[in-house]
Amino acid sequence: MGKREKAVYTDPVGRSYRLGMSTTGLSDRVTLRALRAADEASALAAHAELADEDFDFLLHHDGTVFADYLATLKRMRFGEGLSPKQVPATFLAAFSDGDLVGRVSIRHALSEQLWRLGGHIGYAVRPQFRRQGFATAILRQSLGVAHERGIERALVTCDDSNAGSIATIERCGGVLDHSEQTLVQHKLRYWIPTSTPREGPR
Ligand SMILES: CC(C)(COP(=O)(O)OP(=O)(O)OC[C@H]1O[C@@H](n2cnc3c(N)ncnc32)[C@H](O)[C@@H]1OP(=O)(O)O)[C@@H](O)C(=O)NCCC(=O)NCCS
Repeated sequence: MGKREKAVYTDPVGRSYRLGMSTTGLSDRVTLRALRAADEASALAAHAELADEDFDFLLHHDGTVFADYLATLKRMRFGEGLSPKQVPATFLAAFSDGDLVGRVSIRHALSEQLWRLGGHIGYAVRPQFRRQGFATAILRQSLGVAHERGIERALVTCDDSNAGSIATIERCGGVLDHSEQTLVQHKLRYWIPTSTPREGPR
């Protein structure tokens, strides 16, 4: 390990970037890009899988026509049509060997609610692709995207019962801040510098 490799980020209009950060070999197998019309079947399948765990794979998806949903995501990225509590956010799907393996939402700023509980970056991996390092690869690449959005250090949160997410965040260099307690959850809050190369073990 410790090999210095470049990850690929493809932006919503199809331009690809090599991110200037260290990643592992697995990161190189993961591409983050915006969802496209052709992804509809796999995206809806992933949404149904995560719904079984009470988790939204597709954010702000209300069953609308997929093309309209993609337009909503694009507007959110540019901060258009947001409710007072929403902030601009980039939603990217993660692909490996042609499979949709996960997704990430990168919030460009922190509302009060995001500062307490949600953080800058939220991710998920489809059940059949877990325990292979994909969440770690997705978070690593997302930190580079956050850096491009002007975020110097990213807040990443998770429930104190979510062992997989805790390990993912700590592998990416997360430093624990104070936690937040709500009626239903105990949220751990970590800060991760977005510009530091991360050579965590895999
Ligand atoms: C949490 C989640 C993203 C982890 O995805 P993943 O691709 O399996 O994670 P990785 O393979 O990158 O694993 C990272 C580390 O977590 C560990 N891990 C993953 N799932 C775990 C689990 N259920 N229990 C204990 N450790 C786990 C892995 O072993 C690995 O650490 P290690 O190799 O040092 O042992 C995934 O389970 C998921 O999408 N859950 C539902 C949505 C969610 O909770 N999102 C995060 C919100 S904060």
